[in-house]
Amino acid sequence: MKGIILVGGFGTRLRPLTTNTPKPVIPIVNKPFLVYQIELLKMYGVNEIILATGHLSNTIKKILGTGESFGVKIIYSLENQPLGTGGAVKLASRHLDGQGAFILNGDVLTDINLDKLYNFHKEKKAQVTISLVPVADPTKFGLVETNENNQVRAFVEKPGPNEITTNMINAGAYYFENEVFDMIPSGVNYSLERGLYPMLLEKKIPFYAYNSNDYWLDIGTPKKYLEANKDVLEDKVNIPALIDMKKSGSVFIGDHAQISKKVRMLSMAAVGEKTIVQPGATITDHSVVGNHCIIEEGAQILGSIILDNSFIGKNSKIVNTIIGQNCKVMPYTFIEGGLLKVIGDGAYIPEYSII
Ligand code: GTP
Repeated sequence: MKGIILVGGFGTRLRPLTTNTPKPVIPIVNKPFLVYQIELLKMYGVNEIILATGHLSNTIKKILGTGESFGVKIIYSLENQPLGTGGAVKLASRHLDGQGAFILNGDVLTDINLDKLYNFHKEKKAQVTISLVPVADPTKFGLVETNENNQVRAFVEKPGPNEITTNMINAGAYYFENEVFDMIPSGVNYSLERGLYPMLLEKKIPFYAYNSNDYWLDIGTPKKYLEANKDVLEDKVNIPALIDMKKSGSVFIGDHAQISKKVRMLSMAAVGEKTIVQPGATITDHSVVGNHCIIEEGAQILGSIILDNSFIGKNSKIVNTIIGQNCKVMPYTFIEGGLLKVIGDGAYIPEYSII
């Protein structure tokens, strides 16, 4: 079985974290996000994965390579200019050898049962099956109306408040029969949501919706990104071997991390590979510290994420903040994120700063 993952978007809502690192490989508990999707597909027998890339494609390639280390084959489909979700699927479909395929948006953390989706698709004799999940506020998503037979009736992309008739939204996981790829135009920017799906409805092509109650989260905003890290730490996502760090009580410790005995790690926290944590430091409240970081003595990290290769100086305090890669937070700094603050890659925060 083959699958396509759409990974060519700009990830604008997650900037500045996505300025240099594409959203699909931004780490969640120190693992590139796409690894979660690869593991999910693998669980359901999909071992050939076509990544529909564009923006920062080389970074994705460098991190995931041929897929061999994950036990799958990864094929890269490269767009010279963004083709939109539909155009990207069309280009990637050249690698499917005439088969149908699962398609995933490259920014949803989910443990959706793909066997159930596929069986539902076959039972309904659908050409396209879209998965739906319930959300509290559907205004930021693609809203999908269905009839009593689960057939899709209307597709409203990012509805206004008076267009809301259901709380079921597009979960970004689909199965397409091979014939569907022929209905998508080649070489032009084309949207699945605004182009293909309305066309399927108009032409009365069998288009069904599979309702999922599995774990689902769109990681596209800083708040959701933080939530994704928390949910993985709490083991809410049912994909095997998500965290390969050693677990000790409620904390996770990466290989060759050097953690002083006088460090307080509480309430679920993780420290990545080769990270040094000096005496008197505190890491708590679902904080995740990346690989190759240095946390100096007395520093406090609360409810925060520190990405790889960053330095947190002596007696600094970081609360509700995401700190990008290669940052230097000098000693005695206080960063209070309020609802949530994001500091981009490579930032230098001088000593005694209060932010
Ligand atoms: P925002 O800019 O923050 O909205 O993020 P995004 O660029 O990821 O956009 P969006 O959430 O609408 O995209 C849904 C999925 O489709 C993501 O996994 C994107 O990577 C992917 N995607 C969007 N546009 C394209 C495109 O032109 N080409 C490819 N290959 N993928 C795309």
